[in-house]
Amino acid sequence: MPDLPATHSPGVRGGWHNMLTSGEISNFNRHMYLGRRSAAAYVKYARRTGIKPAEATILSELKGEIKERAILDIGVGAGRTTPYLTELSRDYIGTDYSADMLAACGRQFPNVSFRRCDARDMSSFADGQFHLVFFSYNGIDSNGPEDRSKILREIHRILDEGGIFVFASLNRNKKTIRAYDWRNVRFTLNPIVMAGRIIRYPIGIWNQLQWKKYEVETEEYSLRNTYDTFHAYSILLYHIAPLQQKRQLSLHDFELMMVVNYDGQIVAPDAPDDSPEIYYVARKISAAAPELAPRGAQDTGKH
Ligand SMILES: C[S@@+](CC[C@H](N)C(=O)[O-])C[C@H]1O[C@@H](n2cnc3c(N)ncnc32)[C@H](O)[C@@H]1O
Repeated sequence: MPDLPATHSPGVRGGWHNMLTSGEISNFNRHMYLGRRSAAAYVKYARRTGIKPAEATILSELKGEIKERAILDIGVGAGRTTPYLTELSRDYIGTDYSADMLAACGRQFPNVSFRRCDARDMSSFADGQFHLVFFSYNGIDSNGPEDRSKILREIHRILDEGGIFVFASLNRNKKTIRAYDWRNVRFTLNPIVMAGRIIRYPIGIWNQLQWKKYEVETEEYSLRNTYDTFHAYSILLYHIAPLQQKRQLSLHDFELMMVVNYDGQIVAPDAPDDSPEIYYVARKISAAAPELAPRGAQDTGKH
């Protein structure tokens, strides 16, 4: 039996016997991002998507403060966020643990600095080196609960006094599409895409039968077996709702400043919202933090 991670309080659902350690979850999930096929898919995704509405809202709120300040873009993938962040500051470094993702970034942005680094250990960066740390598109959620905590501590360390952490996390309030759901084989006129969906459908159901036993529900978060482009239902991703995320941030000495939904609207942490992902803006709490009133990040008090 694997060592039980300390942060796993007994699940509302999910038994000790089926629990994976945080490190096992992070390492299993890493296969989503490794390899050239995955990097090529993220290159396409970056071209197709550009900046997301939530990121546009956040950068327009923060641009005055982060102009020409040091930025770290963790889990940079194929560099989707690179042009928007380097437009604000040339003092920019993009990191990822996937060498193929970084190779794709290097080809596209030859004059930008990229470094291979696992967010769980950022000892190659100094204390207080950055004013803004960005971890977009749920990158943090492929890491297990203890590793998430490690990452939050590392980010706190490398931020300067009053530095800002912007990240996205999967929303626990959004219902997860199960492997057998017919939406996984929705019709498209593209015969190649349609054939891929049909082939992956039974594989997804089979994978979910193996992986579902590892799902966990706690007061704080869920670990859910979900879909990704190449590994139909063979991953376990962290999901959290905004109120619990606010508490988790505060336990790691961050003050939640802003919660932004998928459409780019600033919302209260306790507002009902079933966006698939939620963006958070948090400030490192320290004695010298500048006075800045949080925007919409206070609970409305209605529960
Ligand atoms: C969903 S992709 C997002 C890529 C890009 N930021 C975007 O928004 O298009 C998440 C990225 O985070 C990286 N990642 C996840 N956990 C990581 C960790 N512990 N250390 C470094 N990179 C990580 C993955 O390799 C992947 O490139």
